[in-house]
Amino acid sequence: MPENTAKAKGKPVRLSQVEMTELVLPPDTNNLGTAFGGKVAQWIDMCAGIAAVRHCRTTVVTASMDDLHFLTPIHQGEIVTLQASVNRAFRTSMEIGVRIDAENPLTGERRHCTSAHLTFVALDAKGDKLPVPPVIPETKAEKRRYEEAALRRQERLGRRKREQAHFAKYGE
Ligand SMILES: CC(C)(COP(=O)(O)OP(=O)(O)OC[C@H]1O[C@@H](n2cnc3c(N)ncnc32)[C@H](O)[C@@H]1OP(=O)(O)O)[C@@H](O)C(=O)NCCC(=O)NCCS
Repeated sequence: MPENTAKAKGKPVRLSQVEMTELVLPPDTNNLGTAFGGKVAQWIDMCAGIAAVRHCRTTVVTASMDDLHFLTPIHQGEIVTLQASVNRAFRTSMEIGVRIDAENPLTGERRHCTSAHLTFVALDAKGDKLPVPPVIPETKAEKRRYEEAALRRQERLGRRKREQAHFAKYGE
C-alpha cells in the first residue's frame, strides 16, 4: 500500500516497528561496569522516535517518558536489543512501547531488562501540532497493547493535569 493511502486510513503496527542493537562499551557504563541509566534512556528515546516518525512521516518530539524501572543491570560487553512499536495514535500524539533485552554475547542467554512507554507529538515545519494517522493493530499482542494504551493515557494526562496545577500554585 502506498504511504499516502496508509497515512489516510491508518497504518498497521508492523510498518513502523523498529529493532535496534547496541553493544555496551566502557563510556556507556558507571563505576560498577554496568550500563548508565541515562544512556539506556537515550537509546530508548531514539528507538521510539524512529518508530514514531515511521508511523506519521512528520517531525516528532518526545512529550513524555513514563516511569522507567531497571529490573536487572546490563553489564559492559553485553548486547542490548531495543524493540519499539507504536501502540496507539490519539489526535496529535502517539504512545510508543519499547522492550529492552540484554544478551550475554558468549552464551546467547537473553533477559528482559525493562520496558518503557513514551508519548511523541507530531509537528509540522513551523512547530505546529499535526494530526497523526490511526494505528491498525493486527496481532493479539498488538490489540492488547492498543487497549492498554488508552488506560495509560488517562493516567498520564491525569498526572500532567495535577503537575500543571501544582506548578501554577507553587511555581516549582
Ligand atoms: C510536547 C508538546 C509539543 C506539547 O505541546 P502542548 O501545546 O503542550 O500540547 P497540547 O496540550 O495541545 O497536547 C498535544 C498532544 O500531546 C499530548 N501531550 C502533551 N503533553 C504530554 C505529556 N506530558 N504526556 C503525554 N502526552 C502529552 C496531549 O495529550 C495531546 O495529545 P492528543 O493531541 O493526541 O490528544 C510541547 O510541550 C513541547 O514542545 N515540549 C517540548 C518537547 C521536547 O523538546 N522534547 C524533547 C525533550 S528534551
